[in-house]
Amino acid sequence: MASRQGYQSLRLLLLLLSCVSSEKFWHTCLVGHSLADDSLESDRVVDISNPMDFHKSIFGHVKSKESCAHTVNDWETRPHSVSITDFGAVGDGKTLNTHAFENAMFYLRSYADKGGAQLYIPAGRWLTGSITLISHLTLFLEKGATILGSEDLNDYPIIPGLPSYGRGRELPGPRYSGLINGNGLEDIIITGDNATIDGQGAVWWNGFRNKTLNYTRPHLVELIESQDILISNLTFQNSPFWTIHPVYCKNVVVKHMTILNPLHAPNTDGIDPDSSQHVCIEDCYISVGDDAISIKSGWDQYGTSFGMPSQHIRIRRIVAFSRSSAGISFGSEMSGGISNVKVDDMVVSGARWGVRFKTAVGRGAYIRNVTVNNIVMHSVRTAIAFMGNYGEHPDDNWNRTAYPVIENILVQNIVGENITQAGLLLGLPEAPFHDIRLANIALEVRSTKHIWNCSSVAGSYFFVLPQPCLELTRENFTV
Ligand SMILES: *[C@@H]1O[C@H](CO)[C@@H](O)[C@H](O)[C@H]1NC(C)=O
Ligand SMILES: *[C@@H]1O[C@H](CO)[C@@H](O)[C@H](O)[C@H]1NC(C)=O
Ligand SMILES: *[C@@H]1O[C@H](CO)[C@@H](O)[C@H](O)[C@H]1NC(C)=O
Ligand SMILES: *[C@@H]1O[C@H](CO)[C@@H](O)[C@H](O)[C@H]1NC(C)=O
Ligand SMILES: *[C@@H]1O[C@H](CO)[C@@H](O)[C@H](O)[C@H]1NC(C)=O
Ligand SMILES: *[C@@H]1O[C@H](CO)[C@@H](O)[C@H](O)[C@H]1NC(C)=O
Ligand SMILES: *[C@@H]1O[C@H](CO)[C@@H](O)[C@H](O)[C@H]1NC(C)=O
Ligand SMILES: *[C@@H]1O[C@H](CO)[C@@H](O)[C@H](O)[C@H]1NC(C)=O
Repeated sequence: MASRQGYQSLRLLLLLLSCVSSEKFWHTCLVGHSLADDSLESDRVVDISNPMDFHKSIFGHVKSKESCAHTVNDWETRPHSVSITDFGAVGDGKTLNTHAFENAMFYLRSYADKGGAQLYIPAGRWLTGSITLISHLTLFLEKGATILGSEDLNDYPIIPGLPSYGRGRELPGPRYSGLINGNGLEDIIITGDNATIDGQGAVWWNGFRNKTLNYTRPHLVELIESQDILISNLTFQNSPFWTIHPVYCKNVVVKHMTILNPLHAPNTDGIDPDSSQHVCIEDCYISVGDDAISIKSGWDQYGTSFGMPSQHIRIRRIVAFSRSSAGISFGSEMSGGISNVKVDDMVVSGARWGVRFKTAVGRGAYIRNVTVNNIVMHSVRTAIAFMGNYGEHPDDNWNRTAYPVIENILVQNIVGENITQAGLLLGLPEAPFHDIRLANIALEVRSTKHIWNCSSVAGSYFFVLPQPCLELTRENFTV
């Protein structure tokens, strides 16, 4: 007998189907309660030229306005403020201001025990090399301010690889320090009024492509072993490598951010929480050359010995554009473990993968207790992927029997149009992925063969179209 849950699923399915065939896909296809309430409400023409307006046109009406606010104190104002111009900086886009930033940090240190201080960046184009933040600092960029990353590689000091990676991620040995860095800090706010941090990454992308770089590229912002961090209300663009990289951090909020790296710029991930706990990411527009968001926790034997997981991560209301990679991914570096992650309300467009779990023999550890909910996909090649064959090792000493465990993953309320492959679910024969649950999924797949390609996985499904592979068992309606 059709239960209440069965009835609701049927209703959802009809909504999903009408959504897939709708011409106003962007506006009508927020899956779930909001879809029911708001479908066909909006006739506005979509304008992607202003990312945050576009984000608002999609998520502005989402009823559940859960917020990261509890994680850090984002209403805090600092009792002291100085301008970068007080330290001789020149905002002409040509003068190198690295020393001005260094001097400002040195000066502001004395305010740490007095409620901290704000470093104010007025309108202008402020060229700088790598800078290192201090604790109890607000870096505030005024409307019209742009911090520009130097295009001279010598302006980025060489620093050791992270212990959980054992080396630089792209090349063995050390790596370039990020444009904006913090190590062992607490209480950091990076915010502004519609301003920009521009990594001017082309020199790095080209150097990577023509193999002239000797070390791994810099992140735009990297915070190591730090806590109580807020990054908000800015545009980050043209990152040399991953854009925001909190690693070994606690209590991190990233919200109202626009991240714009060209779709062809290599490995320019948006946000990569790495061996970090209590991370909250919301209301971001991310258009990048690799994964929009990727959750990580260290690489093979180095990640195993370091042993620091990523856990308690919330992600919601994200617009993600990518061509080469995923909207949201887990791994492939996950050797410290990843658990307790919840992702809600995402639009993924043009991506190679929609939701992707990636790992390899040698990683060990686990990805477990993950829920991915309410995702709209548009022109995505493979909607749902679980892959144990990622490969890539830091060196030849990886453990040949360190099989990662992938378990207790729920992917639900997914709708997609113009999808090439519904699912690629490739577990490890030696350690099959299990307790994979897919529910309420409707994908318009433009292909007739290998719509689902599964091996070494176990789990179940409930209302999934097209019907999944036999490795997953169908759940019956329950009362
Ligand atoms: C923010 O800046 C962009 C371009 O720099 C502009 O198009 C947009 O209107 C600005 N938004 C606000 C709220 O000032
Ligand atoms: C490689 O790219 C860098 C950055 O654009 C450029 O300076 C360099 O001349 C290029 N080298 C070769 C050999 O193409
Ligand atoms: C890489 O190292 C070589 C050899 O030391 C050096 O000639 C070259 O300039 C370096 N490349 C860069 C981009 O620093
Ligand atoms: C950041 O942007 C949000 C949304 O536009 C706004 O509500 C908030 O007041 C802004 N915060 C700051 C510090 O400007
Ligand atoms: C995963 O969730 C289960 C309950 O659903 C809990 O017992 C277990 O401790 C969680 N595991 C981790 C690693 O958080
Ligand atoms: C469908 O998706 C493919 C990429 O997978 C893209 O090239 C094509 O333009 C899309 N078609 C439509 C009608 O959006
Ligand atoms: C390799 O991994 C397996 C499984 O985690 C573990 O039992 C074994 O001790 C590891 N071997 C080495 C040399 O670390
Ligand atoms: C399934 O995917 C794997 C990995 O991409 C590929 O090697 C294999 O040929 C595929 N199988 C089918 C039947 O498409």
